Amino acid sequence: MVRIEGLEKRFGFQHVLKGVTLAFPRGKTTVVLGPSGCGKSVMLKHLVGLLKPDRGRIYFEDQRIDTLAEHQLGPIRRRFGFLFQQGALFDSMSVGDNVRFPLREAGVPDDEWSIQRVRHVLNMVGLEQSIDKMPAELSGGQQKRVALARAIVLEPQVILYDEPTTGLDPIRSDVINELILKLARQLEVTSIVVTHDLASAFKVADRMVMLHEGHVILEGLPEEFRKATDPVVRRFLRGEASDEELAAIRAAGTPRRS
Ligand SMILES: Nc1ncnc2c1ncn2[C@@H]1O[C@H](COP(=O)(O)OP(=O)(O)O)[C@@H](O)[C@H]1O
Ligand SMILES: [Mg+2]
Repeated sequence: MVRIEGLEKRFGFQHVLKGVTLAFPRGKTTVVLGPSGCGKSVMLKHLVGLLKPDRGRIYFEDQRIDTLAEHQLGPIRRRFGFLFQQGALFDSMSVGDNVRFPLREAGVPDDEWSIQRVRHVLNMVGLEQSIDKMPAELSGGQQKRVALARAIVLEPQVILYDEPTTGLDPIRSDVINELILKLARQLEVTSIVVTHDLASAFKVADRMVMLHEGHVILEGLPEEFRKATDPVVRRFLRGEASDEELAAIRAAGTPRRS
């Protein structure tokens, strides 16, 4: 469905992705794990042409997309729903208008079908009754759900979730997890979930991938991650810093009390 081959990306002297090859199978939920700053968002942005590779290729259904011009990317982007890391609703628009926005952009007329479609996706995320509210009247978790409704309003085949539970408490996170599972089942979409929330990862994943220092260091089933022997993967799953990192902090001395 979606494939990355030999993706390399640098920003100045920083070599973020050093040759990433991955396939995201149709209808499955793949969770991409990795520490902050390792290039997870950068990888997602390549899938929809928001960034261009320095080296490597991106394919959507056997069509190479990284070489397409901006005007050719429109129809491809419409097949993707993207839940950005920063929820990014338009503050000055009601919930309903936020969700309708992609329909208007795609040239769908504001007819009865369009209104029903907005209601339908808001109903899927449990917020149909908030259609006339403004984003500021909603909690952080509800805003994420509105952003998710907006991401699915054009019936995407692939949904990209960039840290969908970051900043939410455990209960609100679990609501998002349930929605990811529900959308995967009901819409039969291919889902790619970037996260460092392990509870969320193990709840939604069919497959997992771990990025580390610009490379894929492990990919496989959740059971394979639980049983992993690679020390980097094990430390990540246990939330432990490495001996070198701990030694550096201990060696740095203690701040003096005044
Ligand atoms: N547009 C950009 N210009 C320069 N540096 C960037 C840009 N986007 C990301 N980076 C850098 O690339 C690295 C990976 O970023 P990112 O993919 O956002 O990490 P994360 O895995 O936390 O999502 C970071 O060091 C970030 O500062
Ligand atoms: Mg990120």
